[in-house]
Formats: sequence, C-alpha cells, structure tokens
Amino acid sequence: MANVAIIGAQWGDEGKGKIVDLFTQDADVIVRFQGGNNAGHTLVVDGKKTVLHLIPSGALHPDKLCVIGNGVVVDPEVLIEEIEKLKAQGNLQDDSLLRISEEAHLIMPYHKAIDQARERLRGEGMIGTTGRGIGPAYEDKVARVGIRFIDLLEEETFQEKLSRNIEEKNIYLRAILKEKTLDFYEIHDGYAAYRERLRPLVINTSLLLDQQMRAGKKVMFEGAQGTLLDVDHGTYPFVTSSNTVAGNVCSGAGVGPRQIHQVIGISKAYTTRVGSGPFPTELFGSEGETLKREGVEFGATTGRPRRCGWFDAVAVRHAVRVNGITGIALTKLDVLTGFDEIPVGTAYRFHKKVFNEFPASLKTLQGVEPVYEKMAGWREPLTEARNFSDLPANAQKYVRRIEEILETDIILISVGPGREQTVILRNPFADSR
Ligand code: IMP
Repeated sequence: MANVAIIGAQWGDEGKGKIVDLFTQDADVIVRFQGGNNAGHTLVVDGKKTVLHLIPSGALHPDKLCVIGNGVVVDPEVLIEEIEKLKAQGNLQDDSLLRISEEAHLIMPYHKAIDQARERLRGEGMIGTTGRGIGPAYEDKVARVGIRFIDLLEEETFQEKLSRNIEEKNIYLRAILKEKTLDFYEIHDGYAAYRERLRPLVINTSLLLDQQMRAGKKVMFEGAQGTLLDVDHGTYPFVTSSNTVAGNVCSGAGVGPRQIHQVIGISKAYTTRVGSGPFPTELFGSEGETLKREGVEFGATTGRPRRCGWFDAVAVRHAVRVNGITGIALTKLDVLTGFDEIPVGTAYRFHKKVFNEFPASLKTLQGVEPVYEKMAGWREPLTEARNFSDLPANAQKYVRRIEEILETDIILISVGPGREQTVILRNPFADSR
C-alpha cells in the first residue's frame, strides 16, 4: 500500500496539476482535501489544455476515483459546470467515479459578495484574493454557521440555516460593506436545483477512503495553493484561508497520519506569486519579464500576471520542514534556458542580520534582501530531455545544487507542460510499498 501527498512548496502555481496527472497512472484514488475553486490546476494532454478548479486532476484518466474531501469549500455552481465540461470533452463518463464529502462546506453567494467587497474596501492593503468567496466560507465553517452538503440535502435544515445566515449577512453587507443585499428565495431555489444534481455524489468520503485503503488501493492527496499561502505557515495575512500543508491531509480528508507514506513537494525552478504579499526574491526588471514571458506566468483562475523571481531556497526549505517533504518535483526548468547566470536565494539579510530560516514577521519579510549564490546558466533548450543525462551540464549542476541546499532529493524534473516532457528520477508510489 502506498499513499502519496502532493503539496505546493511555494506560493501556489508550482505545476501540481501536471505532476498529479502524471502520477495518477500509479494511483487508484485522487483526493482534494483543502481549498476550493481558488485553485487552477492546468493539465496538458496530447497538446490539449484543461484547467480544473475543484475536481481532482485524476479526472482525465478514465478509471480513477476522484474525491472532494470534507476540507474543501465547494461552490456547487462551479462544480456542476466543471462536471459538465469534463463530460462534454469525453472525461468523467461514469458518475460513480466522483464523490463529494457530505461534510464539505458550501460556498454561498454571500461569501463571494463579502470577499469581493472587502477587497475593494481594503484598497492598497488588499490581499489580492481570487474573489471566489474562499475566506468567508472558511470563516463561517470555523464560526460554526457554515452550510455543509449534508445540510443542503435536508430541506428543513437548509432553509433554517440559510434564513439565519441571510439575515445576518445582509445586515453586514448593507451596513458595513455598503453593498446590495441578497434574496433568500433566489439563493434557496438555485441551491435546491444544485442539490438534486449533486445528491447522488454526496457520501461519507472518509469511510469510502478507509474502504479503499483496506482494499489495498493507492491514494494520492492533491494539495492546492502552496505552503507559503498556508494560513499558519505562510506569509500571514497574505495567505489563503486553509492549511495547505501535508498535515491537513488528515483533517481535510478524514484519514489518519499513518496513511500518508510519501510527501512530494512541487516547486518551480524559480519562484512566482499571484496576489499581494512579501516575495523576497522578486524581480522587477527585464529578467522578471523574461520569466513571465517564457514561463507564460498568468494565473489559471483569474488570468492575473504572476510576479516572478529567482528560486528561493529559504522558502522551499521551510516547506520541506513543515510538510515533511520526502522528495521534490522541480518544474519549469526549461524556462531558465538563456540566462547567463542564475542566482539562487540561499538566505535573507535584514539590518545586517542573516536569516537562514523563513521569518514570521511580516515587517522583516518585507524588508529582507536575498543573499544569492550565482549558478552558471545554459543556452540549450531542455524541452526534449527525458533523462537526467539529456540535460546540459550546467542545468544538471543547478538541479544538484538545489538538492544539496534543500537536503532533499529531487525526484522529478519537468521540462514542459506535456505529460511526456518529464525526467522521472524516482516514483513515489514505487518507493513506499
Ligand atoms: P483566496 O484563496 O482567494 O482567499 O486568496 C488568498 C491569496 O491566495 C491570494 O494572494 C491569491 O492570489 C492566492 N491564491 C489562492 N489560490 C491560489 C492558487 O491556486 N494559486 C496561487 N495563488 C493562489
């Protein structure tokens, strides 16, 4: 038995979708355990691009069970759209291959309205959220007023919870946020229709996973966002509202810690970030523009341009520790072709003090200067590389040096968006038998 967690080791957008899709051939079940449709997992199969926001990336394989765990916040409208889109393109033909936790919380229209209105009011201090209502939905969950799928299935419970919430949210929207109020009946009727469409998919997914694992099935837990966006371990408050780290696989999917055998951290060979917040190795000149252009660095969910910078080993080392990462998948190495030298951030300096570990203070993080180690670049394109030895010597040295600094093995190198554009050094499913 081998279960693997795939976790973003930076600020999200590390290329998790491709890696999950790739390892899906070795797994039987693929599980999302946190986040919502703020995620955008891009998969390119036979040159065709699919972006998934909620459904696990296993959905492009015909026979894999996809599970949306209790830790995910689900916008049912988006979920139904995604199901229909996948079906129209020939995927997800069998409804029994998608299951949603009865304990997963719903994103409601007032969550989206509050998320967007607050961002507008924050002005300069905006977090740069995706505006999908993720934060307000998690707030309601923790405040114990959230609406779960099981509540939606029970008409009376749903009406009761919705009417209480609408009353309160409308006061907040009108009086504090100066926004339009929302109508109970409009929301109720819309969600009643979603209920009928989704009812057959909603079950106790913790129990399902237990049955699958007892039957010897292999499970992959698909993280969304990244460690530096984790509400505890990220650049707070410029984070998302869930725990993105491997530890949250347990609470977000309803499995015990002994069920996770490998933790694979996904990291780009450089760094990007969407939204606001500290980013020590960010580049503001032509080198950043080159990374953005060559890496096509635009958000898969919002289309926003991503901020780009050099590889930040302090941040990824932090991710290795807080997740217990057992191997790194290094993505987009091909994008670094053409630079004369490639700096790697190995520490931070702030007022003459050197930080080897990621600081918690926002003020410190905003003021730090990276300490760089310069690596020699290469000119050869990497997109055709399939073995480590196909990489030019300086690209090999770059990978080995990162491995050394992180004290963690690099188990995979991605050199393009296609499934085949990959150098696999170790398969985590094979390791953990
Ligand atoms: P929220 O998750 O929409 O509340 O946004 C909070 C922060 O997380 C913002 O900076 C977003 O840009 C960022 N974020 C959320 N989801 C993703 C993702 O999937 N990739 C990268 N950044 C994300």
